[in-house]
Amino acid sequence: MSVVVVPIAESHAESFRACLDAVAREKKYLAQFEALPLDRIRGFVRESVAAGAAQFVAVEDSRVVGWCDIFPAWADAIRHCGHVGMGLLPAHRGRGLGRQLLSACLDKARSNGITRVELEVRADNERAIKLYERMGFSREALKRHGMRFGGEYHDSVQMSLILEDEA
Ligand SMILES: CC(C)(COP(=O)(O)OP(=O)(O)OC[C@H]1O[C@@H](n2cnc3c(N)ncnc32)[C@H](O)[C@@H]1OP(=O)(O)O)[C@@H](O)C(=O)NCCC(=O)NCCS
Repeated sequence: MSVVVVPIAESHAESFRACLDAVAREKKYLAQFEALPLDRIRGFVRESVAAGAAQFVAVEDSRVVGWCDIFPAWADAIRHCGHVGMGLLPAHRGRGLGRQLLSACLDKARSNGITRVELEVRADNERAIKLYERMGFSREALKRHGMRFGGEYHDSVQMSLILEDEA
């Protein structure tokens, strides 16, 4: 079954939540350990679609198997900054889908006026860091004990990518 990368739609909400929840429950990669309740996720997806936000999903046979989003900060002086969140179900990692998702999101973020894209990643998440570096992100800082999983501290890396201003 082939996987397609498409902008998120309201019909994806339930499956997107299941995918996000599965990756969160690995308690290794994401800052959150479980997804928010479905009604909250439906609300976020509705707003995201209405706003034309940079949020894409990888879909296989109507099931979301991965996502990437870049949401802008809300406050005036930092509204040009967007934060990356992404993940794939384990069986779909290491096949280039992350690159496709991030690339689609970066194009959309740029057209939405985001000129600085930032993220935070656990320092030992080599695959994610490799993907971000390949897409042009630079390391900005090492945050000592930036994340805590099950009582164990991990350093995290802050990375950013400056996008060309389309204005
Ligand atoms: C991080 C993630 C989104 C990357 O997507 P992906 O589709 O698996 O990544 P890609 O297949 O595009 O591979 C990225 C690069 O890492 C390399 N790579 C693959 N497996 C690797 C591993 N175990 N260790 C180091 N590098 C690895 C690939 O070779 C590729 O580099 P290349 O194109 O130069 O060869 C995905 O692996 C994932 O969901 N991981 C768990 C959740 C997560 O980490 N989210 C991000 C939190 S900041």
